[in-house]
Amino acid sequence: MNEISIIAPDDWHLHFRDGDMLRETVPATARCFKRAIVMPNLVPPVVNAEMADAYKKRIIDATPPDSGFEPLMTIYLTNETSPEDIVSAKNSGVVAAKLYPAGATTNSDAAVSQLEALYPVFDEMSKQDMPLLIHGEVTDEHIDIFDREKEFIDQKLSVIVGKYPELRIVFEHITTKEAAEFVNQGNENIAATITPQHLLLNRNDLLVGGVRPHNYCLPVLKRNIHQEALRAAVSSGSKKFFLGTDSAPHEKHRKESACGCAGCYSAWSAIELYAHVFEELGCLDKLEAFASLNGPDFYKMPRNESRITLVKEDWQIPEQITLPNGNPIVPFFAGETVHWKLRV
Ligand code: NCD
Ligand code: ZN
Repeated sequence: MNEISIIAPDDWHLHFRDGDMLRETVPATARCFKRAIVMPNLVPPVVNAEMADAYKKRIIDATPPDSGFEPLMTIYLTNETSPEDIVSAKNSGVVAAKLYPAGATTNSDAAVSQLEALYPVFDEMSKQDMPLLIHGEVTDEHIDIFDREKEFIDQKLSVIVGKYPELRIVFEHITTKEAAEFVNQGNENIAATITPQHLLLNRNDLLVGGVRPHNYCLPVLKRNIHQEALRAAVSSGSKKFFLGTDSAPHEKHRKESACGCAGCYSAWSAIELYAHVFEELGCLDKLEAFASLNGPDFYKMPRNESRITLVKEDWQIPEQITLPNGNPIVPFFAGETVHWKLRV
């Protein structure tokens, strides 16, 4: 097979950032994705309909005119979020709300410390049929970073799912065998996104032979058995798993630092990297559902009508990209050869 054609894909989880960075990140994504769920973890976070609307306009201003790309907006749940915020967000076209446990990741200081306090908000989301997107990690200091996702399932997620069986939940960027099992065993209202880095890499790629800051993201890469479980999840063809790159740019000096930021900037090679993994797994026939069908079906949105073509052609991901502000950024998988290329 030298070429594959699939319905145009969407990215169900990414970080565009703001300001002049949008002139880099939005075209990179609009290159092949028709829609993207835009994470709200700006500083300050996007917490209501007005902020989401203003942010959406800034994204649209940075969108290449003929791309037909549509940003799908989210709001950030805080201790102050009210059921009324959900109603007005829904009315203004916000697609989903994101739950970050306080301190879990980049810019999550404003996030939720007591989940129970959000129950009235979850009730309203359930009523409005608005999906809840979850960064599933506990943040208790005494819990080992490699166990934080599993702990979240046991302590929090199973409680939310039990209490709100009607609420659609996306368990974002899952990284463990336990998460894949939890989603597989759950009802049809729970699904998960999976990133290219968690399919391609495990924690050896982060730590063996020297620390590799460009492979550092949160939730952190796990051991090989977890990577294998995620690979099995996508090759199973289950409708519960779909594409979410978690593309999360940080300038080079912020990654290559004594206290480096978490996040991999994968937008420029995202669909190609997934094709690369699916080919390795011998399941290229499952790529279209993962990238282009399962996501819109779960979100109850129409599937895209246009198509993209990927051709079998080796190319190298650039070592570095220059941002609109002149600073360099190192893309995910920099310098590596990928076997598939989007035909433009
Ligand atoms: C994300 C970011 O930089 O905003 N970082 C990451 O490692 N994934 C935040 C997030 O999605 O957790
Ligand atoms: Zn993210």
